[in-house]
Amino acid sequence: MTEPLLLKTIRGEHSDVRPIWLMRQAGRYLPEYRALRAEKGGFLDLVYDAEAAAEVTLQPIRRFGFDGAILFSDILIIPHAMGQNLEFLAGEGPRLSPRLLDSRLNALEAVPQRLEAVYRTVTRVAAELGPETCFLGFAGSPWTVATYMVNGEGSRDQAAVRQYAYMNEAAFGELIQRIIDLSVEYLSGQIKAGVHAVQLFDSWAGSLSPAQFEKWVIAPNAEIVAKLRGLHPDTPIIGFPKGAGEKLPAYARETGVDALGLDETIDPHWAAANLPKYLPVQGNLDPLALMAGGESLQKAVQEILDIFSDRPHIFNLGHGILQHTPIAHVEKLLTLVRGDN
Ligand code: CP3
Repeated sequence: MTEPLLLKTIRGEHSDVRPIWLMRQAGRYLPEYRALRAEKGGFLDLVYDAEAAAEVTLQPIRRFGFDGAILFSDILIIPHAMGQNLEFLAGEGPRLSPRLLDSRLNALEAVPQRLEAVYRTVTRVAAELGPETCFLGFAGSPWTVATYMVNGEGSRDQAAVRQYAYMNEAAFGELIQRIIDLSVEYLSGQIKAGVHAVQLFDSWAGSLSPAQFEKWVIAPNAEIVAKLRGLHPDTPIIGFPKGAGEKLPAYARETGVDALGLDETIDPHWAAANLPKYLPVQGNLDPLALMAGGESLQKAVQEILDIFSDRPHIFNLGHGILQHTPIAHVEKLLTLVRGDN
């Protein structure tokens, strides 16, 4: 049986027609998502209801026919399974408690059943997806997950967490190791339940100095990649170290990811010149260009398609789709990328 186009591209095959999926494609810009979320209560009620979470995973596939379906879950399910309390406050983002700035990792009591619920979602989606769609699992990268666990909530520049990592290096290293180990188990569970490939989201990789980036971004991701390869040698891994900038070549080389996600601040010309020719890249349309639509969208899409035309390329945004993005602009994007308008 031939593999889905997106999966072949992550493995390094070149194709003129680019596979496309969008980060955060399962979410609030879709009216059918908002309706189901209102019916089920909160975000976590959706995530832990395998039937509902499978439905949300499939909603963007049914509507747009993307080449990839991303599992509907969240990177903060790992801290939740490690025993922190997790809440999503309307308009304010996630809150984890007790935060590790004023509590101890060892005081947390693990709740492994929380991961089991996600595997049940994967099994359901895998049974329903057509053979042309690649199913993507994911986890947050240890640094990004740790920033939320330590600070208890998001912050603009992660200053408190960066300072904590300098001042409590042993404790922070232990936390990173615990996240690495659980992430390997979690991603392996997703793979066993039926995902074809996985993505490591490192949303806050951009806030670290070069030495800290080596220590807290590259080394932990390299360990996850090596351990996961040992368990599942045929499952490719996409790394997405958002904000890594000129550290991307080192990240790609030293972690050994199969494909590299580029955020919208990366100049595609720079990427084409500085990343190995064989390395598949993913990205990197500005989410605001998609929201804006019109001629600037058309121009930005064409530029990305042209510059990455001679290497394996997965079309995506540079970060998650924004909530107020018009559905018609997503439809337009698909026709622009697939050339079937
Ligand atoms: O569609 C998909 O990509 C699949 C599911 C997914 C979600 N979150 C669903 C979600 C994925 C892959 C994520 C990743 C995630 N979660 C990241 C890494 C990628 C990124 O965007 O930087 C991070 C940092 C988180 C943590 C998180 N989850 C935050 C900061 C928030 C609140 C802010 C926001 O964007 O809403 C969430 C909530 C969340 N995760 C929602 C969704 C659909 C919104 C929940 C809702 O209000 O319904």
